[in-house]
Amino acid sequence: MLFISIDEVKYMLAKIEAIRRTALEKVAAASSSEELESLRVKYLGKKGELTQVLRGMGALQPEERPRVGQKANQVREELEAALQEAKTALARREQAARLAAEKIDVTLPGRPFRRGYRHPLYQILNEIKDIFIGLGFDVAEGPEVESDYYNFEALNLPKMHPARDMQDSFYITSEVLLRTHTSPVQVRVMEARRPEIPVRIIAPGKVYRRDDDATHSPMFHQVEGLLIDERVTFGELKGTLMAFIKQMFGEKLQVRFRPSYFPFTEPSAEVDMSCGNCDGSGCRVCSYTGWLEILGCGMVHPRVLSMSGYDPEKVSGYAFGMGVERIAMLKYGIDDLRLFYENDLRFLRQF
Ligand code: DAH
Repeated sequence: MLFISIDEVKYMLAKIEAIRRTALEKVAAASSSEELESLRVKYLGKKGELTQVLRGMGALQPEERPRVGQKANQVREELEAALQEAKTALARREQAARLAAEKIDVTLPGRPFRRGYRHPLYQILNEIKDIFIGLGFDVAEGPEVESDYYNFEALNLPKMHPARDMQDSFYITSEVLLRTHTSPVQVRVMEARRPEIPVRIIAPGKVYRRDDDATHSPMFHQVEGLLIDERVTFGELKGTLMAFIKQMFGEKLQVRFRPSYFPFTEPSAEVDMSCGNCDGSGCRVCSYTGWLEILGCGMVHPRVLSMSGYDPEKVSGYAFGMGVERIAMLKYGIDDLRLFYENDLRFLRQF
């Protein structure tokens, strides 16, 4: 029995050694990860050859089992290590092959970034600024959340003044509102600079009114103008505005001044230009009048000057205010104001 058992042990050891040698050879020769995986299953898997040998140990004498078991475990560890090593080496080789196959064409042109550009309203606003800067004006700014005093009172619009109704306002408290026009910047600039002359500013910015339709938006843009000096005349106001309108819309245009009323100017006027669509003969754009209204203006009211710290006996001034959207609509022939705020690229890309 012992004799047979020794034979059996020798046989098993030899078998394990044979498995070891062929398995290592095959692992060394394997050329893909899949092949390595099937070798692992073939030798070390549940029904693998080495596993079977270990299972067969039951036939051995208990005192013989450790020798065979030790050998089998050594071989299993050795095989596992060889498989792991081969796997890493192969993965590295496979990746290198993939990278080599994936040729990068460095001569291909890059993917272009679409270059951004200004919103059409701000293109117009910049044109307006450029023209007035060219005429010697500075650019001033004021807050969009404004006090009742600057927005109305100091512009000769006391509390119960009926002209307040022309500007439906967004109030925050009874004394604070979103400015309804850029005119309060006139007052702020005069307070800051008095008694210095000349004052020559434009004030562009956002204004807010409770209006919403094809030609009115609750937020829109204005450019205010103010000039104060000694002996300023209405003729200078007219000349400045004509120069602006002709630079903006072209020399051919007719310009007319129509008497009007604003509480902060006296006299006041509204300025119309001949309709560019029909050259003044009358069409849908100008409501068959041949004229388009583009701004309000006038000589600064003496009361506005004195409230802001200038002496109306010594200085005089003119002021004007225009809507940027309106000018952009006239210049580009746009008939719906809301297009400016919808951010539809099909619209915006046209400018
Ligand atoms: N603030 C006026 C408005 O929003 C426009 C305006 C008219 C401004 C006459 C002026 C001016 O400076 O002199 O309707």
